[in-house]
Formats: sequence, C-alpha cells, structure tokens
Amino acid sequence: MIQPYVVVFGSINMDLVAKTPRLPTPGETLLGSRFSTVPGGKGANQAVAVARLGIPTRMVGRVGGDSFGQALLTSLQAAGVNTDGVLLDASNHSGVAMIAVDDRSENHIIVIPGANGQVNEADVERLADRLPGAIALLLQLEVPLATVYSAAQAAHRAGVRVILDPAPASSELPPELYSLVDIITPNAVEVEQLVGFPVTDTATAAEAANILHQRGVNIAVIKLGAQGVFCSTQEDSFFVPAFQVQAVDTVAAGDSFNGGLAAALAEGHAIRQAITWGAAAGALSVTKSGAQSSLPDRASFDAFLKANSDRPA
Ligand code: RIB
Repeated sequence: MIQPYVVVFGSINMDLVAKTPRLPTPGETLLGSRFSTVPGGKGANQAVAVARLGIPTRMVGRVGGDSFGQALLTSLQAAGVNTDGVLLDASNHSGVAMIAVDDRSENHIIVIPGANGQVNEADVERLADRLPGAIALLLQLEVPLATVYSAAQAAHRAGVRVILDPAPASSELPPELYSLVDIITPNAVEVEQLVGFPVTDTATAAEAANILHQRGVNIAVIKLGAQGVFCSTQEDSFFVPAFQVQAVDTVAAGDSFNGGLAAALAEGHAIRQAITWGAAAGALSVTKSGAQSSLPDRASFDAFLKANSDRPA
C-alpha cells in the first residue's frame, strides 16, 4: 500500500532572529542579546512539521540563488521533506524574515518575500503533478494570493483536501477561495481580519465560524492561543483546551499546529483527534526557540501526548 502523503505549497524563508529584552518602540534603538539564522517560512515550516511526525511530505515553492537558498533546501531535506518541487530561482534572493523576540516570548516579524514573491502558475503546474494520491494540500498566504487560489483549484480538481492557514492576516481573500477550502485555521488576529470583529472566546469564535461556513468553508478551526482551539464542523462544534507548557518563543507555533493536524488526518484520525495533535505539536514548538528548530520529532511528540493523556478534554 502507498503511504498517504501531504503536499505543501508556500513560502520558504531564512529567519534572521534577534533576541531582545523588549520590542522597540518606533524610532528607538535597542541592544539585543542574541542573533541567529534559522530556516523558516510558513510553507517550509509546515512541511517540516508534518515530515518530523513521520508522514511523507512534498514541498512546492521557490528558494533564491543565494547561500540561504541552499541552506533552506538542506534543512527541508534533513527533515525528510521531498524537495523535487522546489525551484532554485537564481534571479532572486531567498525569502527572508526579520524576527524580534522579547523576554515575554512575544515576537514581531517582517517578511521580505524574495523568490516567494515570484511564485506563479508554472509553480502551480509543478504542484498539480504532485497532487494525485495526496491526502491533503497545505496552503498559507506568503506567496502571491492568485497562486494560492490556483493551487486550491488544482487540489479541488484532484479531489485533495485543502487546509488553508490564512497567515499572515489578510482581509482580501477572494470570495471564491472559501468554497475550495475544507479546513481553515486562523488565529484570533487572522479571523478578525476575515470576519471584521474581534474573536476572543468560544462565543465569538462560534459566530465567526458560522460566517466562514456561510462563505463555503467546511471546517473552521480557530486558534485562540493560550486558551485553546475552537472547531466547528457542519455537524457539531467543540473546544480543545491548550496544553500547558513553559513558553520560550511562539514563532512557528501556528505552523506546528497545522503540521500536527495534517499528520493526524494522514494517519486516519478524526477531526477532534487531529485538533488535539495540532494543539500538542503547537505547544511543543513554543518550548524551543526558532521556527524549524522548534518543531517536534515523532518520539518527543508521542511522549508528550502520553504524558498528557489524562488532561481534561
Ligand atoms: O510562522 C512563522 C514564520 O513566519 C517564520 O518562520 C517566518 O519565516 C515567517 O514566515
């Protein structure tokens, strides 16, 4: 039997991370305490998150012709991600994210798309070749929106489930995109951008989910950070409380969540268990610094789930 695999279409960035006691105010210069370069990018992070949990994973996207490009490919491959679908775009620099993380583990991120900004219909064609047989396509919003839409259409045609992480936050999703999305996974900031009102608890999350259903989304998964995750399907809705951990750095927590969610679905779990996997993977990632450097492997993931098996549902 061929093992189900997951395809990710999206961004690949090198993260330039500054640790600082607090985030600067406009016009202020601060002395930070540490600097590191860490492979990241929402698409690549999600691919690594799925692969580290033991699911075959294929990445489609672009890196630049600089030294970061090679390092980013190496990081994906080291996690076991198939990178045949990643184009080395020699005429552009690799995507870069400038990240500041403060002592309370809050972060600010500025993304310069580079090669990610050049992703186009040719990349969607490479994606389409890799969709037959896939269990899910993971999408985010760090490559041009038109290509995200085309990628969702290609998955729909191939009968592949689409999981959209609407990050970074955007209020400009094409209305036609929603009906191509099986599972949408915004956090509180992102869902506010989508529905136009603040989402702070399960009541407002349920209101937001209803709007997303009306627009055509099948399952709405709203990530409420340290509170937990609200999920609304066509049949019912439920809340999965957050796992309690000591947070070091929240970068890539959302990507780790989506990786855990997709991995659970690839292993045949139902949506409730998939949300628990997402929440566990997200929680583990905040206990370590950086993006791909913080994503859990299968052994630590299984041990964490086991250690928390008696927590209240
Ligand atoms: O979601 C975290 C990611 O956002 C970082 O790795 C950074 O590259 C930005 O894309």
